[in-house]
Amino acid sequence: MTKQIQAVRGMNDCLPNDSGIWQWVENTIRQVVAGYGYQELRTPVVESTDLFKRSIGEVTDIVEKEMYTFADRNGDSLTLRPENTACCVRAGNEHGLLYNQQQRIWYMGPMFRHERPQKGRYRQFHQFGIETFGIEGPDIDAEVIMLSARLWKVFGIAEHVTLELNSLGSNQARANYRDALVGYLLERKECLDEDSLRRLESNPLRVLDSKNPQVQEAIKDAPSLMDYLDDESKHHFEGLCSKLESLGIKYTINPRLVRGLDYYNRTVFEWVTDSLGAQGTLCAGGRYDGLVEQLGGKSTPAVGFAMGIERLVLMLQTLELTSQVPKPVDVYVTALGESTELYAMTLSEELRDISSTLRIQTHCGGGNMKKQMKRADKSGAPVVVLLGENEMQQQTATVKFMGGDKAQQTIPKSELTNIINEYFEH
Ligand code: HAM
Repeated sequence: MTKQIQAVRGMNDCLPNDSGIWQWVENTIRQVVAGYGYQELRTPVVESTDLFKRSIGEVTDIVEKEMYTFADRNGDSLTLRPENTACCVRAGNEHGLLYNQQQRIWYMGPMFRHERPQKGRYRQFHQFGIETFGIEGPDIDAEVIMLSARLWKVFGIAEHVTLELNSLGSNQARANYRDALVGYLLERKECLDEDSLRRLESNPLRVLDSKNPQVQEAIKDAPSLMDYLDDESKHHFEGLCSKLESLGIKYTINPRLVRGLDYYNRTVFEWVTDSLGAQGTLCAGGRYDGLVEQLGGKSTPAVGFAMGIERLVLMLQTLELTSQVPKPVDVYVTALGESTELYAMTLSEELRDISSTLRIQTHCGGGNMKKQMKRADKSGAPVVVLLGENEMQQQTATVKFMGGDKAQQTIPKSELTNIINEYFEH
């Protein structure tokens, strides 16, 4: 037998049984962002490699080891986007959307990182994100966080996530802190692993991110970034904290939160959960006031976040919070006996003409009552329309309500929509 070709490792199919929850999640997110007046920005999944090197940073896990980079046929180095913030800034600069303007945008789509696949971590994954441009004060940081908090409320997971917050301050503050941290780490060099020693040279703040228990022990008493914040950043951070408190959004300050991408300054945050196992970060983001300029635009403040859709879907499934996912079929129309097929098809079409929202599946492929009812059952439809030769001759339909005590009834076909709509309204 010919060998079957499998999907690429870490890249998943979204099968029909799962696409319902994905569509529901995506539609709900669209409604939430619309409620804040955000607009969608769609960018290509492939960009110049330099875009990510210059934004995420040369010495980050993503750029050093996780990018899907390849030479185009004309020799240009291209990369499948590992994240979308840089792409939004690139597009914003290119189309003149940023300078001296305010923008609130959102996106949703696939990202690619060559990480070791495990539950909640994939090589093609999907992010929903928002990015805001042109607003400097902490009011917009609070709005961005508030929008994410609303998502958790809408999806019913608010009590399963917690907000961690930190400020990275200005470039100067970070440079001062870096010196102090390097001094501290040099005294404990023997406790650092190979990765941390490398980061000590190239990107010392990332040592704080180490998951190695021995390194964590060594950095336990490391100086805190909070003590090095410049006055303006401190003021900005206090402004954000007091707004979150007034809005009733709980947070904990985590001075070790530094994020794995280089473009951040001031506010950084992560929504974390215990419900996902090792991959506990559901959503992460922060402020990146220098990035627009760094990518060739005019200086523009910016703040945003991205959330992993696979992780949200996993959480909803684990916590069994999927009851609002619409069923794929509302009404299953059977065709029993000879020559009823056309009657079933036209009646189904008439139903669709009247109601654009009902999901109607018409039985195809014949078979006896038992077989057709089995199919109807499998479809999960709460309403089954039974059409036999009698019904066809008398232009009627028999309606059966599954899983309740409502009696089956035979009615003129003109009344069918009313009866079905009435049933779904209650
Ligand atoms: P990030 O922390 O790299 O940030 O990713 C954000 C979220 O994407 C993570 O919290 C996680 O839920 C999801 N995610 C990341 N990698 C994977 C993966 N391999 N498999 C499944 N899910 C994953 C960013 O990407 C920034 N662009 C966020 C941002 C937007 N900052 C400002 N604006």
